[in-house]
Amino acid sequence: MNKPLIEFQHLAKHYGDHIVLEKLHGQVEEGEFVTLVGTSGCGKSTFLKMLLGTEGATEGMLLLNGKPIEQEPSEDRGIVFQKYSVFPHLTVKQNVAIAKEFSASPILGRLFGKKRKAALEEAETWLDAVGLSHAVDKYPHELSGGMQQRLAIAQALIKRPKILLLDEPFGALDPGIRKDMHKLILDLWKKYKLTVFMVTHDLHEGFYLGTRLWVFDKVRHDPHAPTRFGSTITYDLPVGATDTKYFDEIQSDLNQTPNEFEVKKTA
Ligand SMILES: Nc1ncnc2c1ncn2[C@@H]1O[C@H](COP(=O)(O)OP(=O)(O)O)[C@@H](O)[C@H]1O
Ligand SMILES: [Mg+2]
Repeated sequence: MNKPLIEFQHLAKHYGDHIVLEKLHGQVEEGEFVTLVGTSGCGKSTFLKMLLGTEGATEGMLLLNGKPIEQEPSEDRGIVFQKYSVFPHLTVKQNVAIAKEFSASPILGRLFGKKRKAALEEAETWLDAVGLSHAVDKYPHELSGGMQQRLAIAQALIKRPKILLLDEPFGALDPGIRKDMHKLILDLWKKYKLTVFMVTHDLHEGFYLGTRLWVFDKVRHDPHAPTRFGSTITYDLPVGATDTKYFDEIQSDLNQTPNEFEVKKTA
């Protein structure tokens, strides 16, 4: 059997005395689309950062293709945040090209001559893929919220990651625009055979978009020491547009404070 793309066992993350995540176990195959939900502060972004390699594990193991994840961001993982970073004085196209330049030459961040021209051409291709071909020469401040997120996705994709990490990327967008973004991300996921991890605070999005849903929550809670126990994965469900069997149950768990419940279902 093939090795899973991602595997983690007994994984925990502490910040000093603060236990953020504990006892995480799981395996993810190439091509899965995992959505992550959980209350604010439960450690979803921290988990994505561990996948990205900018945060290390405190305990346990986290493997990518059977090897410990490198403690630095690498080409095979790209991330899109809700708030994105651009150079305001560069055009949309230049901002995408420079994302490529930074990955090609992290120290200098500059490509010269032919390589730079190629990067700009490649940027146009990716801007086309995310539906921004009409805006390549605009400046970031001229873009709407949805267009800004399209730009952020193009900046991540130009590095050709196998794994795309999305941290509440559509959280600030209007519902109509969000729908367009859902379509875009599903199209890109299929077309480029990506493995996606996407944090969302919208449980509908979690059930609708992915192939698999993870709920992060605390199973144990000490009211006198709220940082003593960490979150773990309390639901691991195969989902799809039609499978909403556990929707109400999870919604009510997420609304409880403190959240105390057992691990109920695993994929
Ligand atoms: N670098 C850090 N140092 C100390 N504590 C942190 C750090 N990053 C995150 N935390 C804490 O870890 C917890 C989980 O944060 P986070 O992963 O951002 O939650 P979520 O994304 O689920 O809202 C929070 O209590 C946060 O304050
Ligand atoms: Mg977060």
